[in-house]
Amino acid sequence: MSANEKRQAGEAAIRYVENGAIVGVGTGSTVAFFIDALADLKDRIEGAVSSSEQSTAHLKRVGIPVLDLNATGALNLYVDGADECDAHKRLIKGGGAALTREKIIAEASAKFVCIIDSSKQVNLLGKFPLPIEVIPMARSLVGREIVKRGGNPVWRDGVVTDNGNWVIDVHGWQIADPAGLEKDLNQIPGIVTVGLFARRPADVVLVGDRVM
Ligand code: A5P
Repeated sequence: MSANEKRQAGEAAIRYVENGAIVGVGTGSTVAFFIDALADLKDRIEGAVSSSEQSTAHLKRVGIPVLDLNATGALNLYVDGADECDAHKRLIKGGGAALTREKIIAEASAKFVCIIDSSKQVNLLGKFPLPIEVIPMARSLVGREIVKRGGNPVWRDGVVTDNGNWVIDVHGWQIADPAGLEKDLNQIPGIVTVGLFARRPADVVLVGDRVM
């Protein structure tokens, strides 16, 4: 993992920000560099839609207005990090437990710019345990369904998401068909969000300051 590449990626994403924009903002240490860079443009943008309490606090601290997605309508740009990224710009996200709001904003945005360091690039998704947000009462049910599919579910004990839910991390999957797995898991009652971004992959991936 390279903090320098994360900083480069965060700063490089600024070139996608247009005057007057409302920017979708993800969560994590790479996005933190983006927010710091965005602060320099705060007089030229209308504000941001935030994917987590963590990013909301950071945005407010640097003086960027945080807006409600229900009031803004569709966005032009979403900038976020990832835990893994394959050659088709399909992602695993949710290491910071913000996957649900991240997926909502990605879906609402015309362009998703993903900012990563080179350690996140993989040939096959799944070495990073796949985060799944679940309604608390469904934790065991979802765990059994994952075992049936050959995964090893580990409850992220003590973590409560911004939405009041729990997170299961699935170890041991080599994800050859990300879109198929995402669709399959989305059918299981109690699953709120799967941390696979395959149906809606990134549009642009910045690895440091380089476009992938
Ligand atoms: C947050 O839930 C995640 O999806 C983050 O986007 C991901 O974990 C990347 O985080 P870093 O930028 O801190 O590596």
